[in-house]
Amino acid sequence: MKEGLLMLYPASSTPGLLEYWEVSTSTTGADTVCFQYNHLLYQLRAVYRSTPVLSTTKAAKAGEGRALPPLKLVGFTPCLCKRTTHALAAPQRFFAVAFDDGLGHFLQCPSKANRGGIRMKAVVYADYGSPDVLQLAEVDKPTPQDNQVLVKVYAASANPLDWHRMRGAPFLARLEEGLRKPKNPRLGADLAGRVEAVGSSVTQFQPGDEVFGCVTGAFAEYVCGRETAFALKPANLSFEEAASVPVVAFTALQGLRDTGHIQPGQTVLVNGASGGVGTCAVQLAKSFGAEVAGVCSTRNLDLVRSLGADHVIDYTREDFTRNGQRYDLIYDAVGNRSVADYKRALKPQGRCVIAGFTTLPRLFEHIVVGAWMSKTGNRTIGLMGVAKPNQKDLLFVKALLKAGKVVPVIDRRYPLRDTAEAIRYLEAGHAHGKVIITVEQNNKT
Ligand SMILES: NC(=O)c1ccc[n+]([C@@H]2O[C@H](COP(=O)([O-])OP(=O)(O)OC[C@H]3O[C@@H](n4cnc5c(N)ncnc54)[C@H](OP(=O)(O)O)[C@@H]3O)[C@@H](O)[C@H]2O)c1
Repeated sequence: MKEGLLMLYPASSTPGLLEYWEVSTSTTGADTVCFQYNHLLYQLRAVYRSTPVLSTTKAAKAGEGRALPPLKLVGFTPCLCKRTTHALAAPQRFFAVAFDDGLGHFLQCPSKANRGGIRMKAVVYADYGSPDVLQLAEVDKPTPQDNQVLVKVYAASANPLDWHRMRGAPFLARLEEGLRKPKNPRLGADLAGRVEAVGSSVTQFQPGDEVFGCVTGAFAEYVCGRETAFALKPANLSFEEAASVPVVAFTALQGLRDTGHIQPGQTVLVNGASGGVGTCAVQLAKSFGAEVAGVCSTRNLDLVRSLGADHVIDYTREDFTRNGQRYDLIYDAVGNRSVADYKRALKPQGRCVIAGFTTLPRLFEHIVVGAWMSKTGNRTIGLMGVAKPNQKDLLFVKALLKAGKVVPVIDRRYPLRDTAEAIRYLEAGHAHGKVIITVEQNNKT
């Protein structure tokens, strides 16, 4: 047995994503090579009898992990990479397997998603941190599976979720996202664009259709998603306007309708009425027939009024929980107030739905004290939970967009290459409306 080093460099990775695994080798004649990359188990089936079997403690768990398309070993070329294979600093379409004894092999990596070898630009991040961790990188252009649609992205939009994922914050979220570094290196969710190709079982769309929707990895030139992640873009909206809608619309709609049980004629207060979620919530609440008060700062009073709010409250001058007004429903897109504050501002039988997040102690208060207050009192106060993207709600909002009852509010636009700046601006917490990422179609972004 000889100890060695297995260096993995998948076609979709950037230099920052390079990973190494210690391996041992033997020549028992078996023909399967197993290894893990980004927590997924891969198998290489060797076509050359002479290929050594590689095994590692982790790879020895062959058969565990998620099934992935086997990578076909199509080349077997001696090379001189040894441990100095760090020299492969530019993206390569190879796996380099190097051994201490000076022998090495390039294993060509024909990723299933990229048989044609076509590349595209996408925003990636290999480590948690500030917007500086975001890079515009070359990655494989995806190809749609049977039930998927390939969309050429024209515009995407940023959400607080993107900077939470970028920072791996709050820390608890890392249980899902990856403890030390992100499992999924791609960011973005909202997008609008044109269908370029469809899988064999797709029935709702065809190439050329203009669509909008919600798919992870939207900060890119192309995305693939299930057809149910999309809807046809309303003709009266630009790609940028359509891309601004999905996440904030799911959040506002599900919070007001499903958790808040909004009814016509109710008095509804929207805290954070000038942000992405708030601008949508004010308009949705109006479309449900409510009398709406919007809370924002001085500079956004006109904006919130223009969205249809019947009353506007400047939070820099007035505390909506202490002005004597009471509401049937409070929709909080900020999440900065105490449970006692909400209780004071709610009518008996009133509900408070909290969508926003500020600090962990506040969050725990909303969960624990809110639940206790809801159980023991005559008001309901609690989190709405994470909004769930779905086509039914996307179509519901689309109808309102077509009718002009919900009008997207766009604050700023940034080209794909400046996504880090867009996220930096959004993270400062004072966007009014949405921050858009534009994706030029000439590969210049
Ligand atoms: N539950 C879910 O599934 C879900 C989904 C999406 C978003 N969210 C959460 O919802 C929150 C809002 O998201 P967003 O997209 O609307 O964020 P956003 O666009 O960044 O919201 C920024 C807005 O918040 C306003 N604001 C800041 N402090 C305020 C205060 N003390 N009182 C009233 N308004 C204040 C700002 O107005 P000024 O500049 O005037 O201060 C700004 O217009 C975030 O916490 C996000 O994480 C939850």
